[in-house]
Amino acid sequence: MNFKVPKEIEEYLMGAYEKANQWKLPSGESHENCESVDMKTVSVIGGGTMGRGIAIALCRAGYDVILVENDEKSLSFCKKELEITIKRETELKRFKPKDVARLTGSSLRFTTKLEELSACQLVIEVVFENMQLKKELFTKLQKICSKCCIFGSNTSSLNIDEMASVLSDPSRLVGIHFFNPAHVIKVVEIVHGKKTSGKAVATAFEACRSMKKVAVLVGNCPGFVFNRMLFAYLEQAHRLMYEHGLMPHQVDEIIRHAGFLMGPLTMHDMNGLDVSVKVKSEQGWPLNPLEQELLKRNRFGRKNGKGFYSYDADAKKHCDAEVEWIIRDLASKATRNSVLMSDQDVLEALLFPMVNEGYNLLEKGLIADPALIDIMFIFGFGWPPSTGGPLKWGESRQKRLAEKLHDWKANDKSSGMLELSQRVKSIRKAKM
Ligand SMILES: NC(=O)c1ccc[n+]([C@@H]2O[C@H](COP(=O)([O-])OP(=O)(O)OC[C@H]3O[C@@H](n4cnc5c(N)ncnc54)[C@H](O)[C@@H]3O)[C@@H](O)[C@H]2O)c1
Repeated sequence: MNFKVPKEIEEYLMGAYEKANQWKLPSGESHENCESVDMKTVSVIGGGTMGRGIAIALCRAGYDVILVENDEKSLSFCKKELEITIKRETELKRFKPKDVARLTGSSLRFTTKLEELSACQLVIEVVFENMQLKKELFTKLQKICSKCCIFGSNTSSLNIDEMASVLSDPSRLVGIHFFNPAHVIKVVEIVHGKKTSGKAVATAFEACRSMKKVAVLVGNCPGFVFNRMLFAYLEQAHRLMYEHGLMPHQVDEIIRHAGFLMGPLTMHDMNGLDVSVKVKSEQGWPLNPLEQELLKRNRFGRKNGKGFYSYDADAKKHCDAEVEWIIRDLASKATRNSVLMSDQDVLEALLFPMVNEGYNLLEKGLIADPALIDIMFIFGFGWPPSTGGPLKWGESRQKRLAEKLHDWKANDKSSGMLELSQRVKSIRKAKM
């Protein structure tokens, strides 16, 4: 594959960046007629993996940040982890002395008391992925914060409308979905619910602009846009293993060879199986047989040294005999919906369902333009820029894509996850 970005693709991606800034809500409120609140002090609630990264990004962008944790023990763990990140990023020369000064000085404060957030203009919750917990938090916050404070949620999948229902003014809640690691990845999904105001969206966009991140407006549905497509991809990656018997390193190598930043199983180990399982269980999505086996054995990923791979003391990954045995065992009993003859077949099995999910999301009006999906995946996923992103890539092989998806769907006894888009159906019809 040629990795040089052609001029036409470069222009397409520049156009996508412009389109992302020209957001518009169904109400007609838009980037043209809505203003952000003036932000000086912002808060992040939850100092875990994501909360720490978000606090770093906000602090480096020039805001005064208050980071809230549950209790003193969690707070001291959070501070220790922050120190490690600051040290590593400084060694990598990604943080300048002025960043370190802000992050270790009075611009980043810590507390366990929500009452200290009364003067914040933006509060982002980054606690565990649990609807009840998030609702309880917003119920408390609306009594503490001023009426003009905007509330953000970093949820990766939960219903923004339901979350906002506990607020007397639900228009102040907006999804601000960062990707891991939040201080590095350049893209953020801004999720609007039915009642989210233009002011809340404008505030989220302004915070992203200050952090030099590309913000993309999406609608409210389980998993939003990015994770719905990501889950379609990971599901296929797992399937290649538990149905076809491919090993994690084989799947990863094929995708890396095609120019992607990392393979799906290396990525899944980085994000954590426990995190994706939590999302699936909150949404009622079934776990596949391989996930069930890994979960039984507490194979969560990098965080506990074993996932699809095992990790040594230096965090170096290795192929793992236990995982390979599980895969061989599952594949020996599996029925398959397709035959794989080449690396190209594997690549298509991984990517076509993801592109189809992108079409579904466009058809349901959850995102305004295919180019917005494309920049999200180039900046947030490591999709090779030279291809223009998943939907641009899919455009040039539409007939084959429609044919393959139809065949897989027709022969599929187990999944039920693949919902063919109207676009795929109509390409197929036109061909017959
Ligand atoms: N991990 C990811 O890759 C990822 C990516 C995008 C979004 N998210 C979302 O971000 C949120 C947090 O995920 P995470 O991976 O950082 O989780 P995590 O488990 O690493 O951190 C959650 C933190 O919240 C703290 N917390 C819990 N209840 C609290 C409360 N009432 N007040 C203050 N602090 C509280 C916990 O002590 C913990 O430190 C979830 O909604 C998750 O779905 C995660």
